[in-house]
Amino acid sequence: MSLSILQTNILSWFRDNKRQLPWRGEKNWYHIWVSEVMLQQTQVETVIPYYKKFISRFKTVECLAKSSQEEVLKAWEGLGYYTRARNLHRAAKIITEKYNSSLPPDREKLLNLPGFGQYTTSALLSLVFNLPYGVVDGNVKRVISRIFAIEDDIRNPKTHHRIQELMNSLLPQDHPGEFNEAVMELGATICTSKSPLCSGCPITTDCIAYNKKIETKLPYRSKSARRPTKYALACIIRYQDLILITKRPQHHMLAGLWEFPVLKWTDGESKLNTDIATISRQFNLKTVLKQSWPVINHHYTHFHLKLFSKLYETRSSDFQSDFYDSFQWLRIGEIRILPLHKAMRKVLMMAEAELETVSE
Ligand code: ADE
Repeated sequence: MSLSILQTNILSWFRDNKRQLPWRGEKNWYHIWVSEVMLQQTQVETVIPYYKKFISRFKTVECLAKSSQEEVLKAWEGLGYYTRARNLHRAAKIITEKYNSSLPPDREKLLNLPGFGQYTTSALLSLVFNLPYGVVDGNVKRVISRIFAIEDDIRNPKTHHRIQELMNSLLPQDHPGEFNEAVMELGATICTSKSPLCSGCPITTDCIAYNKKIETKLPYRSKSARRPTKYALACIIRYQDLILITKRPQHHMLAGLWEFPVLKWTDGESKLNTDIATISRQFNLKTVLKQSWPVINHHYTHFHLKLFSKLYETRSSDFQSDFYDSFQWLRIGEIRILPLHKAMRKVLMMAEAELETVSE
């Protein structure tokens, strides 16, 4: 295969076929940064409205840096993987203070910023500064493993490394950023995982997997360990007409997001009936059970959650906890404006209508 023909075919296909997206052709590095962070682990269609809202809410990196973490999390609510938002916010502060609000065109400096791994760093260096760094995300892994018929386990770091080297070697020196985007776009729209649209692909002649008819078998992914199921109970605790809401502490999963205080366990549903004693012990509140709602299933990267929710009444507001360091007693209608994580938003939606009627 000729390298320059492969590059030309991919680039001209991209120029003719790329989707019009709000961040396409963007010159503002801050906009490019926000879009690339959102696009990690999230589909384009989901990202578009969040991206627009985020950019109009936080117009510049200084504005983002000056905002509170709570405001940033609120704008991110529903996108998931909230560490991305916390890191974006922390990095915005550093860029403003240390780099005079501009992005340094320096790999080492970027890699030291929160949330800047290999992918984000290479994406920004190539898209913003046209520097020759190849990106490797899920789409790129699929395209490259098919072009070169790589049959090794795609989860293996060695395979990742090999794909990174191949991508670097394919990169045209004059258009590295555009080429990175083109390969990601090819992966997102043509070289898809289940039924790739090879008849519309500009590089089938060079694609070894296509020529061996093994494209749908690649990339090969070893079976991962089964994700465990964890159980939790969201305690909606009412004191007069106020409901207790707690903030998840820093350095824990979903840090900074609000939730009804949660009791957790890992071994089946049997612990559900010990709730009143546990609430008394863990939250220092004597409660009476008033109502139960159906379980909610929510999937995280490393486990499945079965989230139960129940309404309790208490005669004291003297909440204490070793885990939650921040809490408020609010009217049910005031809770929805807080940044909540997705599973808890589902609980709130389920409970809200009934509680509003009850407390009137
Ligand atoms: N996925 C992540 N970033 C992308 C981009 N810039 N173009 C296409 N797909 C992407």
